[in-house]
Amino acid sequence: MCMHICNYARMHINMKTLAIISQKGGVGKTTIATALAVAAESEGKLTAVFDLDPQASASFWHDTREAQTPAVVSIPPARLGHVLKAAAETGCQLAVIDAPPFAKDIAYEAAKNADFILIPTRPAVLDVMAMTRTLELVRHYARPSAVVLTFCPVQGREIADTEDAIAQLGADLAPVRIHNRVAFSRAQQTGLTAQEFEPAGKAALEIKHLYDYTCIQLFTGTSEIGSHD
Ligand SMILES: Nc1ncnc2c1ncn2[C@@H]1O[C@H](COP(=O)(O)OP(=O)(O)OP(=O)(O)O)[C@@H](O)[C@H]1O
Ligand SMILES: [Mg+2]
Repeated sequence: MCMHICNYARMHINMKTLAIISQKGGVGKTTIATALAVAAESEGKLTAVFDLDPQASASFWHDTREAQTPAVVSIPPARLGHVLKAAAETGCQLAVIDAPPFAKDIAYEAAKNADFILIPTRPAVLDVMAMTRTLELVRHYARPSAVVLTFCPVQGREIADTEDAIAQLGADLAPVRIHNRVAFSRAQQTGLTAQEFEPAGKAALEIKHLYDYTCIQLFTGTSEIGSHD
């Protein structure tokens, strides 16, 4: 399958791995994973999404998608390390791991293999509690990570409260808020991402900013893991 993903001459490239992890369900993990993967592909990075979720949402999204790229591969979590290594060897430049909710062991596996981790979190009390559990497991492997606020309302004190909670937990916060926007869900109905569905829309701009921030973390950082070679 990885030969299919990275059907290029074997080359020596340092692949980077981004994991999207949250123990809470429905916080936008798959939406962010697929949108960032499409953003990477559109700027010329050979990219693959590794779908660790038994619900296979990212894979279903790809099934409805006209474009073949980015590749989405549904794999058993136990094979992640091996599959990432193979992807790196065949020229993949960015691997995006879409982790499932409520699955601590799988989240550990994703965190272990990641160069950078995004933790999507809604600005709501129960989500902050779930974020705390996710932070614990992310810190187990001491990987760089940041919380990204999703489903943000346009106004309301929830955002400031959640940002305070994140600061108190000593977690980094991505300097980009993903708002609650219909473009995200409408795009998925036809296997698109928000930036493809509505290129000049606000959702597209948010994804661009999140992608730019993520690239800085992944490609200009000092992460040890990531060469996978
Ligand atoms: N920022 C957003 N604004 C509006 N709708 C969104 C946003 N992000 C995601 N959605 C929608 O919310 C639903 C859940 O999103 P998504 O599947 O990405 O979450 P998830 O964290 O991957 O869920 P799960 O935990 O089940 O894997 C989807 O229908 C998606 O289209
Ligand atoms: Mg998902």
